[in-house]
Formats: sequence, structure tokens, C-alpha cells
Amino acid sequence: MIGKIYGTGIYAPSNIMDNHTLAQKVDTNDTWIRERTGIVRRHIIEDDTTVSMASKAAKEALETSQVRAEEVDFTLVSTISSNIILPCVACEVQKEIGAVNATCFDLNAACTGFLFAYNTAQAYIASKIFQTVLIIGAETLSGMVDWTDRNTCILFGDGAGAVVLKGEEGGLFSTVTHSSGKQGAALTCVPGGYIKMDGHAVFRFAVKEVSQCIQELLEKENLSSEDIDYFVLHQANRRIVESVAKRLETDLEKFPMNLQEYGNTSSASIPLLLNQMNRSGLLKKGNKIVMAGFGAGLSWGASLLEW
Ligand code: ACO
Repeated sequence: MIGKIYGTGIYAPSNIMDNHTLAQKVDTNDTWIRERTGIVRRHIIEDDTTVSMASKAAKEALETSQVRAEEVDFTLVSTISSNIILPCVACEVQKEIGAVNATCFDLNAACTGFLFAYNTAQAYIASKIFQTVLIIGAETLSGMVDWTDRNTCILFGDGAGAVVLKGEEGGLFSTVTHSSGKQGAALTCVPGGYIKMDGHAVFRFAVKEVSQCIQELLEKENLSSEDIDYFVLHQANRRIVESVAKRLETDLEKFPMNLQEYGNTSSASIPLLLNQMNRSGLLKKGNKIVMAGFGAGLSWGASLLEW
């Protein structure tokens, strides 16, 4: 049994902070941010919370999947920025959407979180413990950045994305994942504190490990990058995506991006992008997609799926 994506949903706060507005808060400018990161604007919560965004994205994903909330037997939320510690976000989403039959818990793996949540869902589906799974990546990183630190605050944004998976015979799933706790100091946040990051170290790590990991996955499956229709990477920095494409000797057109619109939304970035590709009609049945996540931990991974 392999989980097939039945539908996607997102929620992004309507409040938009573009680079020009940000430059009024901190010593930066639109040109620098665009050139170094590709980011143009980000969505920032006003009245929303991680829970409310996760619930809205989940409702949309259920609607597009034509799956009733009562059919969901597992809800998994990936987040590092919950507005509450207890109960977990997944239980709050369950209450909000009426997924009364679901087992619910959260997962913390920073920007690799959605990928690890996807893999976790696939493992439960393969072992026939759960059949219909709702995975959500939801983040309010605006509350975790120091808005006076131009090294970090320009990068992040808020949002949520969700997918519904249903177990089916056939299909494609394979993954390669890694973690390296000894490199953890490159990207940290303590309770009540702000995200602290060695930008250069994270950049180098991402480019090297993500491309190697994708190569590992392709070799494992006896595929080449030509066999892959799209590479859906965590949306951290345009230059990271470009460098990975270059190392894989693959056309950048196969690497869709939406970081210009949302910034880095950590575990929400991959489902936000998948939803956009899905809604715009880019994705065709049978397309082979490699999703790749990377982030604090450090952790990283790549998973292969068939649309
Ligand atoms: N605006 C204007 N100037 C700036 C800014 C800014 N926001 N930030 C830094 N600068 C200046 C620096 O002071 C420096 O000036 P100097 O040359 O006079 O000393 C110059 O710009 C270059 O700074 P660098 O830090 O070398 O810039 P770089 O090109 O490396 O870009 C960045 C920095 C964007 C942070 C990059 O290193 C990066 O994207 N790293 C990866 C970060 C990332 O993806 N983190 C999230 C991982 S996912 C997760 O788990 C959350």
C-alpha cells in the first residue's frame, strides 16, 4: 500500500509584508533581498495562529480531496512554531474540522518537517495501521525572528499547507533521509528566543547535502534526473535551488519556486508549492516528483512520488 495524494489545501494570511516595507523596519533593501534570496514578499499573521492556519489549510485539502473529516484516521502536523504547547496542534485541528476518528500528533523537524511527516504517513499506510491521512505543515515564524536582525528576519514568513493521502495498491514511494546533530549549532532557537543562524554554513550544507541526497535517491531507484518531472525543494533561497539544479545538471524549469511570494515558511513551504502546482494544472497524472527538505537539526531528505 502506498499513500496517494488526493488533494491539497493552503492558507496564507492576507497581510503581506514586501521588501520595501521590511526595509522601513531594519537596515536592508529590496535589491539586496531579491538578489541574495529571491524573496519579494512574505505573508505575516495578524489575527491568525498556527492552529487556525493549519485548520483552514486542512479544510481546503479535505474539500479538494472530496474526503469527509470523519474518514481521516491520522492527522499529523509538522510545526516548530505552535501557539500552544499542549494540546498539540493536530488535536486542535481535529477539534476544529471534526476529524473525530483521527489519531493526532505533531512532529518537529524544522524545514525538513513536511518531508518527514510525508514519510511517516507512508510508513503507517504501508503497515495498514492508517488508510486516510491528513498531513499539515503550519508555521508562524514571524513570532520567532528578531525583527532587528537583518540576517534572519528578511527570510521567513507565515503560512500553512496540507495534503490528504489515501492508501492504494501500486504507486511509487521511496525515500532517503539523514540527520546530523553534531552540526545543529548552525541553526538554533531556544524557548522564548529567536532563530539564530550561521547563514553561510546553512547555505553550504543545503547545496551539498540536498543534491547528494537526491542523487542517492535516484541511484537507489535506478532513475536519472531526466526521469523526474519536478523537483519540489524546500523554499529557503532561490540561490540554493539554482545551485542544486546546477549540481544535478538539470534544467531549472524542473524546479518550481514560490519563495518570492511567501519567503521561507519552514514545514509549510513544500505543501504550499505542491498546492500551487496542483491548482495551476502543472501536475499531470503519472508525473514523477522528488520532494526535498532540509533544515535545523541539521536534517535533510528526499522522497519520490508519482502524481
Ligand atoms: N540587507 C542588506 N545587507 C545585508 C543583509 C540584509 N538583509 N544581510 C546581510 N547583509 C550584508 C552583510 O552585512 C554583508 O556585508 P559586508 O560584505 O559589508 O560584510 C553582505 O550583505 C553579505 O552578507 P552575507 O551574509 O555574506 O550574504 P549571503 O550572500 O551569504 O546571504 C543569506 C545571506 C541570505 C542568509 C544566505 O547565507 C542564506 O540564504 N543562507 C541559508 C539560510 C537558510 O536557508 N536558512 C534557513 C534554513 S531552513 C530552516 O530550518 C529554518
